[in-house]
Amino acid sequence: MEKDEESFQVTPWKVEGKVDFDRLVELFGTSRIDPPLLARLSKLLGGDLPPALRRGIYYSHRDLPWVLDEYTKGNPFFLYTGRGPSGDVHLGHLLPFELCSFIQQRLGVDLWVQITDDERFLFKRELTLQDTHRLGLENLYDLLAPGFDPRRVHVLFDTRSIRALYPIALEVARRVTFSTARAVFGFSPENNIGSIFYTALQSAPAFLPSRKEGRPIPCLIPCGIDQDPHFRITRDVADPLGYPKPALLHNLLIPGLQGTGKMSSSSDAREGAIYLNDGPKDVQRKLSHAFTGGRATVAEQRKLGAVPEICSIWALWRTQFAEKDAEFDEITRTCRSGELLCGECKGRLIPRVQKFLEQHQERREQVKSWVESTIVEA
Ligand code: TRP
Repeated sequence: MEKDEESFQVTPWKVEGKVDFDRLVELFGTSRIDPPLLARLSKLLGGDLPPALRRGIYYSHRDLPWVLDEYTKGNPFFLYTGRGPSGDVHLGHLLPFELCSFIQQRLGVDLWVQITDDERFLFKRELTLQDTHRLGLENLYDLLAPGFDPRRVHVLFDTRSIRALYPIALEVARRVTFSTARAVFGFSPENNIGSIFYTALQSAPAFLPSRKEGRPIPCLIPCGIDQDPHFRITRDVADPLGYPKPALLHNLLIPGLQGTGKMSSSSDAREGAIYLNDGPKDVQRKLSHAFTGGRATVAEQRKLGAVPEICSIWALWRTQFAEKDAEFDEITRTCRSGELLCGECKGRLIPRVQKFLEQHQERREQVKSWVESTIVEA
């Protein structure tokens, strides 16, 4: 295919080009989250929703109304999300965990977290298993910092929890042909055979609680839309294996600080994202240099206004740094009109992000005392 301005590609391992998230909903065949569905969610979750839900960062789903129906009928779901540990955690990686924290605080449901040290070992030649294992633990401290009930968190650390996962992964693997895996993920003969099998492991946690309890337990997976291909496979095999299809809630990917694409990928330099272990000076430097939707000159910007939709700074305001809608709307309006210039806007955001990271880093320390007790050692 010709590469042009408009072409883009999204797989779990590669996000390239300028992603059109609306088009992705069509390509993947998911459903949009619309205002009536949001209203229903807000009623079930007891009022005000977090900014990421209110502002369309969670924008797509599969079968969300069904898990809500089941919940109302007295059959609560569990949450499942995960992370492939290939480096430090940045603000974008935290999104699903922040949503899980919110849902768990409101509904008291269980959270299952998968740490795929095996996946990263298979897909990243430069990492040893010791590396991915160490990163997995370090990452967990960050990912659980948003606030969880330790008694309701179950961590599946792939190489350590394999005995719990393997029987289900096998059931899945027997039902997925090579041609399906190739069609879904674009594998070629050069891919190692471990990476072809891997998707079976990512399916397993969605079925594990049902298998343990011996009855169908609904599963809700908050994740980046790039993970959807795995769960199409999970959903396809669910019925024949006698498990309920997991429901999904997709967030769009936060743009990188240096322009298009998602907020860094592990191959990018650290300047493309705000990492959770960044210090105040890093935040100052990265955000001052960040790509915006501004114009070439002040005069032009005053006249034409800027473009929030392409701006990496606006994307951060949108996630949570402008907590109140009134403030977020004011930033958006004055950006578009040319009243708010990029320097001023960045100057306002920097201390917010610095404060957030300072608080995050304190919470992260507290998590360390209980993480080990949540890891499933079958
Ligand atoms: N493959 C994911 C990643 O690279 C990790 C992961 C495993 C995951 N299970 C998941 C992500 C469930 C979201 C939901 O980060």
